[in-house]
Amino acid sequence: MGPDERALLLEAFDSNWIAPLGPHVDAFEREIAARVGVGAAAALSSGTAGLHLALVLLGVGPGDEVIVSDLTFAASANVVRYVGATPVFVDAHEATWTMDPGLLGEAIADGLRRGKLPKAIIAVDLYGQSADYDRLRAVADPHGIPVIQDASESLGATYRGRPAGIEGVFGVFSFNGNKILTTSGGGVLISNDTAAIAEARTLASQARDPAPHYQHSKIGYNYRLSNLLAAIGRGQLRALDSRVAARRANFAWYRERLGDRAGWDFMPEASYGACTRWLTCVTIDPTSAGVDTEKVRLALADDDIEARPLWKPMHLQPIFRECRLFGGAVGRRLFERGLCLPSGSSLTEAERLRVLAGIERAGRRPGGAS
Ligand SMILES: Cc1ncc(COP(=O)(O)O)c(C=O)c1O
Repeated sequence: MGPDERALLLEAFDSNWIAPLGPHVDAFEREIAARVGVGAAAALSSGTAGLHLALVLLGVGPGDEVIVSDLTFAASANVVRYVGATPVFVDAHEATWTMDPGLLGEAIADGLRRGKLPKAIIAVDLYGQSADYDRLRAVADPHGIPVIQDASESLGATYRGRPAGIEGVFGVFSFNGNKILTTSGGGVLISNDTAAIAEARTLASQARDPAPHYQHSKIGYNYRLSNLLAAIGRGQLRALDSRVAARRANFAWYRERLGDRAGWDFMPEASYGACTRWLTCVTIDPTSAGVDTEKVRLALADDDIEARPLWKPMHLQPIFRECRLFGGAVGRRLFERGLCLPSGSSLTEAERLRVLAGIERAGRRPGGAS
């Protein structure tokens, strides 16, 4: 948090707008929409809420199938269950770590053969890197399947020169505590379909009909963002560019010192865009590196430094075991070998050196790769 966040939060507090609506919510929506160059934005209590509302607005319901990136955080797939539909998972492409357009084509063809055209696609931008939407849409558009861009992790990235988030019918950002821009918890649904965003705001406010009394013709949700948190978000947004630069500097720093080591590889940056490097992600091949991911993670933990494995693919999650899967080997390998290094926007040189020392210690631990 910086001084802008503090000043805006205190302004919101003193104004007594302590509610899931208010001037900061309206301003935050306008500022996010302007920042990414999209028609409208609905500020919500989480990114998950945004994905859920996108499916509701697209009319996805029981019996439907939705194609989802296999390598992601569970929220991308959980929302499919919220509406009673079934996720179908598509593996990542080696070169981008995001949804493989070739496998998406196979998944759609399989759906057609079974007489089950997917109702929507949730493509995930991973660790700050956009999926390749031109190629995904070249496969999806001829069938009229809408794409939802789960840009929860990619605010501040670009895709073919455009800000990330606006390649699908809907886009979603998360402002969860671990993201580059945070409101502690929060999210936003964006679209060029301004009527749909107006409807999202209604659904997110318990779908109250325009009547003086309490009347409801639809099922609604309590999904709006608090005015206090929107004030924080506005301050955060002002610092977004410098924080993305800090994340990219972390990545460059680690790569300079570890990139030449045998068996160590860094997450590739796709040629079509700029990744925010939300987290610096590496893969470690235990045969050539002499250490494995778990050993590095534990050596860092010894010094109270948190590093985490990459997302565990959805098809390996007990809850989604029965779901259809196209590919799977890329995500599995990334999960087995991948590690997210400490990547905060305010990481100091001394802290990064401590991480490096922990990695050196892992190499000296007895027993080689565990
Ligand atoms: C890819 C992805 N999708 C969805 C979400 C859900 O966002 P939230 O935590 O704001 O609900 C997150 C992060 O938390 C995420 O990383």
